[in-house]
Amino acid sequence: MKRIEKLIKSAQDVLKFAYAPYSKFKVGAAILTKKGKIYTGANIENVSYGLSICAERIALYKALVDGAKDFSAIAIYTPTKNFTYPCGACRQVLAEFNPNIYVLLINQKGAIKQFTLSQLLSFPFLKRHLK
Ligand code: THU
Repeated sequence: MKRIEKLIKSAQDVLKFAYAPYSKFKVGAAILTKKGKIYTGANIENVSYGLSICAERIALYKALVDGAKDFSAIAIYTPTKNFTYPCGACRQVLAEFNPNIYVLLINQKGAIKQFTLSQLLSFPFLKRHLK
C-alpha cells in the first residue's frame, strides 16, 4: 500500500476512538512524517466543552512527543457527505511545524480533496515574525 493510502486508512481506522458524546461529530486524523511514520488522532471532547481537542492536534502532539519534527501530510476523515476542513486553531498549530504541509480531506465515500496548508491559511503567524 502506498504511503498516502496508508495515511488515509489510518485516519479512517482511528475514528472508532473518537470521544464525541456532545457534538456526536467524530473526526479521525493521521499525520505523516518525512521519514514515513504515521501518528493518528481522534477528537476528544469534555463535559466542559471548551476543553475539547481536535483530532488533528492530537495526532500532531502524539508525533511531537515521540520525537518527530518534520511532517509532509495530514489526512482528516469524517464519515459525512461534506469534507471536514481543519479549524483555524489547528491550521495555526500545524503551520508552526510546516506551513506547506499537504492537507488531505476524506469524506464518507472516500473521496479526497487535497490542499497545501498555505492555501488554507494565508499569512500565518510564524516564529520568524518574533524578530
Ligand atoms: N473537530 C475536529 O476534531 N477536527 C476538525 O477539523 C473540526 C472539528 C472536532 C471538534 C469537536 O469535537 C467536534 O469536531 C465538533 O466541532
